[in-house]
Amino acid sequence: MSVQYEAVGWNRQKQIYDSVLAGSSLAYLGTFVGLGAWLFPDATVETLLIRGLGTAALLLLHVILCIGPACRLDGRFLPLLYNRRHLGVTMFLLALAHGAFAIVQFHGFGDTNPLVSLFTTNTRFNSVADFPFQPLGFFALLILFLMAATSHDFWLKNLSAPVWKRLHMGVYLAYALLIAHVALGALQSETSPILAAVFGAGMVIVVTLHLVASRREQRADDRKPKPVSDGFVEVCDVDSIPEQRAVVVNIGEARVAVFRYDGKISAISNVCRHQGGPLGEGRVLDGCVTCPWHGYQYLPETGSSPPPFKEQVSAFRTRVVDGKVQVHPCPVHSGTRAEPSRIDGNREVHQ
Ligand code: HEM
Ligand code: FES
Repeated sequence: MSVQYEAVGWNRQKQIYDSVLAGSSLAYLGTFVGLGAWLFPDATVETLLIRGLGTAALLLLHVILCIGPACRLDGRFLPLLYNRRHLGVTMFLLALAHGAFAIVQFHGFGDTNPLVSLFTTNTRFNSVADFPFQPLGFFALLILFLMAATSHDFWLKNLSAPVWKRLHMGVYLAYALLIAHVALGALQSETSPILAAVFGAGMVIVVTLHLVASRREQRADDRKPKPVSDGFVEVCDVDSIPEQRAVVVNIGEARVAVFRYDGKISAISNVCRHQGGPLGEGRVLDGCVTCPWHGYQYLPETGSSPPPFKEQVSAFRTRVVDGKVQVHPCPVHSGTRAEPSRIDGNREVHQ
């Protein structure tokens, strides 16, 4: 979104990301169908394609779900996050191809409309082994479609960030439906324990990563800032903030990112206006706090995006006393400057 950020090479990075994604998807499908045809000479190409596309989509969904918590735990995963929406759209296309092939293969040759047949052929809802698992895949696909169709920033702007975010939380419902789709479908008919083991390991990894990341966030939130004078609260040592980076603190209801840069300290809201990315996990680049997710930028003193952009996050007054950073919990008036505290090493420089 920012002029400076685009100059860093956003488009080239996007191209590399997309090429790697398309190449890996094709390589996976080729390997799956090739190996499948070799190991199971009786299997038809249609069946191998349906299975290859289904597993590719589910595998990608696991990667997508792991990226968020992995980035929270280790910043080295951040490059994966920049274009996570491309992963989402690719995953939807693979899932759509899988669903469409399956509908043609299993429902396309009778005299009933294939979509009607999908819901009416099997109604054994009280059986685990024969449960109608295909409609579960259909509903998951519907959710994935809604997410892929609204993934562009046009929809983010028109729906507003909170509505968009809530819609995209639907990915967890889709994931639950797909777990049921596979557990009640392929895992009932497939005798090989490998599919069950891989499937179980995937679930354990997704759940564990989410639990560990949220535990870490909770611990950070539990750290209570110490009230000092004039309504300020003491939040951290200057020394604990790496140069050009931030420490995130919870002040009342708000998460605030306290940045140290060029001998100065400034505090702004931790929540990016784009998709709620954690600004405190970003860096100060070209004098601007740069969101680690998609590169929106904000001036640390005002919380405003540099012109011509108009995004704005709250800025907070700071001061440094005896090497400790103090922040006032009430944000300054929107767009106004909160004078940065100057530091020399970790000593305040009185101006
Ligand atoms: C209209 C939607 C869908 C239909 C009709 C459908 C149908 C099927 C069918 C018939 C199978 C069993 C294939 C076989 O035994 O040869 C299957 C399996 C599977 N499906 Fe779906 N599915 C749908 C959506 C999805 C979606 C959205 C995903 C993942 C994102 C998915 C992932 C899988 C996986 C991983 C398997 C197990 C591997 C396999 O045997 O193909 N499905 N699905
Ligand atoms: S730039 Fe997308 S969330 Fe911040």
